[in-house]
Amino acid sequence: MPAPSVVPHHSALPLVVTWTADGRAVRILDQRALPEHEAYLDIAELRDACDAIRTLAVRGAPAIGVFAAMVLATIAEQGRGDAYAQRDQIRAAAAQLRATRPTAVNLAWAIDRTLAVLLRVDAHDVLGTTQALRAEADAIRAEDAAMCRAIGEHGASLLGAGTSVLTHCNAGALATAGIGTALAPMYVAHERGVRVHVFANETRPLRQGARLTAWELARAGVSATVLPDGAAAGLLASGRVALVLVGADRIAVNGDTANKVGTYGVALAARAHGVPFYVAAPASTFDGVTPHGAGIPIEERDARELAPLPQGVAVWNPAFDITPASLITGFITDRGILHSPFADGANGVRPPPPRLGV
Ligand code: MRU
Repeated sequence: MPAPSVVPHHSALPLVVTWTADGRAVRILDQRALPEHEAYLDIAELRDACDAIRTLAVRGAPAIGVFAAMVLATIAEQGRGDAYAQRDQIRAAAAQLRATRPTAVNLAWAIDRTLAVLLRVDAHDVLGTTQALRAEADAIRAEDAAMCRAIGEHGASLLGAGTSVLTHCNAGALATAGIGTALAPMYVAHERGVRVHVFANETRPLRQGARLTAWELARAGVSATVLPDGAAAGLLASGRVALVLVGADRIAVNGDTANKVGTYGVALAARAHGVPFYVAAPASTFDGVTPHGAGIPIEERDARELAPLPQGVAVWNPAFDITPASLITGFITDRGILHSPFADGANGVRPPPPRLGV
């Protein structure tokens, strides 16, 4: 997709990943401080960039991919002087960034796309390499924003006045370079004067739903209710939710979907109570290589995120879980809505095309 020069953004929503004014660093909204503080970090060092991803200062599958591409462009700029040293630094930085979080395929996708630029540029052209990486990072960022907008336009067709939607974690503007994925349809509907309501699961243990989703929905004027994760099944049983809409960190070839831990339970409850369950994701989230969910690596996080705990207690703290394709009503992508059953070849989301239903 060619990079659009101007991508309309929602004026009330933050841009979470931008360049600093001098272009020498990447500015991120530090999501660890939300909702209390709206603080920004300027990142120019690789170590700080890796820390920012690991500690979720910047988070959400598309946003960390965009951020990594911009960091690599920054590293290229710093490496100017010796062509071989520059390329070594870019490749070493790419390896470290890739290792920060394993589940979101968008991170590896953006890094691979950036490294592919090196194959197209004259290996002795230091300035050309720097400019090409910068242009690629800008393209990745603009394309992400455009894909979010397209997801919003397609997804808004599912929403009518008064529709109530349940979401899990944060798949909004804070997780992307645009208006989000799972929240984008609500923003587009709201822009069109269609008033919807969002139930936002709190999202244990780091509370992305309560801290982040509720924050950005409030900024945009979309009405929202936060509930503890454990209340989601009861809410679905009550008939107060028309559909579930979540994001994704990776979608396997057969449609099995990795998303924030707890998503699978929501999908099971939605199926039990006959509530449609949609996954919203851009092309960069579709993994055309991993055949099914069992092949998706699941990040395990530090036990301290569940603190306080009795001393010596064992902890299992997976950051994500897998929702089987059989529980998913449809995928809202930037290219349209794919409805179940996911027939082989019915999507063509991105090359290599995922073969949903295999
Ligand atoms: O651990 P996080 O906060 O990065 O997890 C984020 C999610 O699970 C999102 O739903 C997913 O990345 C999609 S964001 C558009």
